[in-house]
Amino acid sequence: MSPRTISSAPPTLVRLEPGARTPLHRQIYDSLREAIVSGRLAPGAPVPATRVLAQELRVSRNTTAAAVAQLRAEGYLEVRPRSGTFVSPLLPEAVLTAPAGGRRGGATRAHHPALARTGARIAALRPSTTSAARPFRFGVPALDAFPWELWARLTSRRLRHSAAGLAGYSGPAGYAPLRSAIAQYVRAARGVVCEPDQVIVTSGAQQGLDLVARLLVDPGDTVWFEEPGYPSARAAFRAVGAAVVPVPLDDEGLDVRAGARRARQARLVYATPSRQYPVGVTMSAARRLELLQWARRANAWVVEDDYDSEFRYVSRPLACLQGLDDSGRVLYVGTFSKTLFPGLRLGYVIVPADLVDAFTTARAVADWHSASVEQAVLADFIEGGHFARHIRRMRVLYQARRDALLAALREFVGDRIEVGDAAAGMQLLGWLPGGASDRRIAELAHAEGVEVAALSSFAVGPLPRGGLVLGFTEFAPPVLRTAVRRLAAILDRAHG
Ligand SMILES: Cc1ncc(COP(=O)(O)O)c(C=O)c1O
Repeated sequence: MSPRTISSAPPTLVRLEPGARTPLHRQIYDSLREAIVSGRLAPGAPVPATRVLAQELRVSRNTTAAAVAQLRAEGYLEVRPRSGTFVSPLLPEAVLTAPAGGRRGGATRAHHPALARTGARIAALRPSTTSAARPFRFGVPALDAFPWELWARLTSRRLRHSAAGLAGYSGPAGYAPLRSAIAQYVRAARGVVCEPDQVIVTSGAQQGLDLVARLLVDPGDTVWFEEPGYPSARAAFRAVGAAVVPVPLDDEGLDVRAGARRARQARLVYATPSRQYPVGVTMSAARRLELLQWARRANAWVVEDDYDSEFRYVSRPLACLQGLDDSGRVLYVGTFSKTLFPGLRLGYVIVPADLVDAFTTARAVADWHSASVEQAVLADFIEGGHFARHIRRMRVLYQARRDALLAALREFVGDRIEVGDAAAGMQLLGWLPGGASDRRIAELAHAEGVEVAALSSFAVGPLPRGGLVLGFTEFAPPVLRTAVRRLAAILDRAHG
């Protein structure tokens, strides 16, 4: 049955009490959730479109969209492109209550007990996939421009001269000289206020986000999350059972007032203030202060993910949020995945002093510590001045590639897309005209050997306008130019 043919379902699925104190979107959310959990709406069953629900219930589309977005955020519903919205095939509650060998069936599971509550939540998440190394893949640095010879020399020196000292177990918070080098770097380059012992070295930013979620968020706690936003960070908060509330953006970044309307209180807010991922807006100074003020009032933690602020082509970056905070509530997350290479799996969280012990213990419980030789080589790379030099070289290279992409877009695509803020970062956002489906264009492009990410794939609810995320850091100007011509032809086709 097509999802649009079950429009008579809402009155029985959803009962509204217009005069009640509970807001209408919450009533819709509660009814649908109850229907799902009780099995009246089975896993995989279609759910009426938000438009249809709104008509049937005589409420605004925003109201039904908010309820559905929340259910998606919590993993009860999923959207399948061009098919509609469906009850998720694997629900946390269903897994918990299913008899062993139930839902996922199969002879091999017949003797297994069900997953734990947390395990079921994690299993229901979808990990990000890596895409092919062709334009316009984004988020990967120019690996062919990395000084591999130098890295190999530094590694070999460490193995020859200090292998014994680095071969055993060492401190869970990281190799001390690396923690100092990171502290010095973020103080000078990003305005972070910290001492080296506040630096917890992690396996990429992702482990930092995972530790933050596990240590600071209880099941059911509300987390404000940028909409659209970074799916892997959202997954870390969902994994611990947070109620992740999508907070829209405006041209100053995360819209604090809209957030407060959706959830007055929250335990934590996740943001990418230097350059919002994936839209690219930089949070204004006024908005930073507003966010910190709200966090102080709500007694919430703030997670600042500063993943690619090194690549700014126009002006100096604004100092980070952490440096503006005087109440010890900002956790600053950084990574070497963008400045060096993602396979290194080294990042860091800079935590308030009174959280250092908890993070150090959590790191030890997770995996003791990151590989010591790599940490030592990275410390040598930074202390030897190579890190700063590499960033300067990449900034020049990326700026040239960005300029080539912008020029080709102007020449071949013209006003069919509107380029967002291109002053910084490793990718651009091309806004599509209202009504155009970014997912359809991304699919068509993929079939033609062009990788574009649809902006809507970073969101849990509907967005006012679609867009295409275009990476440029890995590709030489002629390659970008050829790919833009192909993209232009695809846009022509898609617009009919
Ligand atoms: C917003 C954001 N944060 C953090 C990261 C870095 O992740 P990791 O350090 O785990 O590779 C990325 C990488 O894509 C990102 O886009």
